[in-house]
Amino acid sequence: MSVHTTQVRVSVPALIACKGKQKIASLTAYIAPIARMLDEHLDMILVGDSTAMVGYAMPDTLSITVDMMAAHAAAVVRATQHACIVVDMPFGSYQESPQQAFANASRMLAISGAQSVKLEGGQAMAETTRFLVERGVPVLAHVGLMPQYVNTMGGYKAQGMTDAAAQRVLEDAVAHAQAGAWGVVLEGVAESLGRRITESIAIPTIGIGASPACDGQVLVTEDILGLTHGKIPKFAKPYADVGAVISQAAAQYAAEVRDGSFPTLDQCFGVKR
Ligand code: KIV
Repeated sequence: MSVHTTQVRVSVPALIACKGKQKIASLTAYIAPIARMLDEHLDMILVGDSTAMVGYAMPDTLSITVDMMAAHAAAVVRATQHACIVVDMPFGSYQESPQQAFANASRMLAISGAQSVKLEGGQAMAETTRFLVERGVPVLAHVGLMPQYVNTMGGYKAQGMTDAAAQRVLEDAVAHAQAGAWGVVLEGVAESLGRRITESIAIPTIGIGASPACDGQVLVTEDILGLTHGKIPKFAKPYADVGAVISQAAAQYAAEVRDGSFPTLDQCFGVKR
């Protein structure tokens, strides 16, 4: 008799229900092996367009495509059973119109099996959030420091540092909440603003360089594992130096190939031992 265990993924409604009760723990993943290792520990895995810079060494996040993001999200979904999987809408795939956003969001969810999309933008994008949510596409909004706006922001700068700027970011978050977003990522904002937004809206806030008061936190996995060549952003914390382990293993392998100690007959076929 076979026993089937049915793993149930964390759903978007389950994440919404965390508000005020339990913090949401989230990290990014772009590929199966990393996603597989993170899955059991996390409530949400974000297939972020940060993979453009982290995974493809692109100068910013602007050049990644819908097909690339969908392929990464599909790999992460296949490798996981537990965490809710959210995929980033890439630059240029949703800003033109709500219809364009729906066409690309529904395609990405259909190809990948992810449960939600994330999109960057202030109040101007709230109409798009409403259009998607009313058609069955869960939306995690992203306000504050929005990397896809690097050219209009003139760099990656903390947002909401004056009273007027903070008010605008607050209004951005409120607009997406009112439009039906299930949560809001707050990136690179003043701590007091992260706290204020979290207290002002009924949906979860997921902070990255925001505030400990946020309903959850997200970080880029490579930033906390020492896989970014020593460049650790202020808001990240190094939890392990996997980069050093990989480098040491590669050095030992190369040395053994060169001195002939790898492979041994243990790694060969057709050898009786
Ligand atoms: O693309 C990404 O990884 C993100 C997080 C940094 C929030 O948007």
